[in-house]
Amino acid sequence: MLEVLILILGGCYFKDESTTLDEAEEASHELYCERAQIKDGQTVLDVGCGQGGLLLHIAQKYKNCHVTGITNSNAQKNYIVMQAEKLQLSNVDVISADVTKFETEKTFDRIFVIEAIEHMKNIKLFLKKLSSWMEEDGLLFVDHICNKTFNYHFEALDEDDWYSGFILPKGCVTILSASALLYFQVKLIK
Ligand SMILES: C[S@@+](CC[C@H](N)C(=O)[O-])C[C@H]1O[C@@H](n2cnc3c(N)ncnc32)[C@H](O)[C@@H]1O
Repeated sequence: MLEVLILILGGCYFKDESTTLDEAEEASHELYCERAQIKDGQTVLDVGCGQGGLLLHIAQKYKNCHVTGITNSNAQKNYIVMQAEKLQLSNVDVISADVTKFETEKTFDRIFVIEAIEHMKNIKLFLKKLSSWMEEDGLLFVDHICNKTFNYHFEALDEDDWYSGFILPKGCVTILSASALLYFQVKLIK
């Protein structure tokens, strides 16, 4: 049997206490697809695709979907390309680029941004860019860490704060409030 290790950096969905990590990862991908109303044949973009967990899940399950990932990490891109080859998937593309500088004429039926919007500092510009990459009836699915009320930059608690020293260096992510995206509804389909 072909063994493929896929690491999810976003959320997992544990249905109950007996759920394993693999099952939780699978359940999370299924939930993302259901809520984003993925259908076979669509073009899908995953912005900040990490190790490609969602991307590879969609490419395997929906063989006629073409999935494209963008990541600013060459290591992540190489890993995904390697996994796609192992799985013999020809419907996967990975672009190594800083999404804030990347431009394309292509449009997509579905765009996912899973725990990557936290890395953006200008949400208005970012969403404007994504809207230009969407088909007229396209859907954007954003999953982000949120504070109930406030937006804030993630800062170190003190100089010994291990988490901000090694995982999320201070200032590198912005935590949005639960309602933050509602302030940027410039283009809405009626
Ligand atoms: C917390 S990870 C989430 C990964 C993936 N969506 C998941 O849920 O497993 C954030 C991702 O955003 C990517 N990223 C951060 N800033 C970026 C940028 N400016 N351009 C492209 N990708 C970026 C990182 O390389 C990483 O893949």
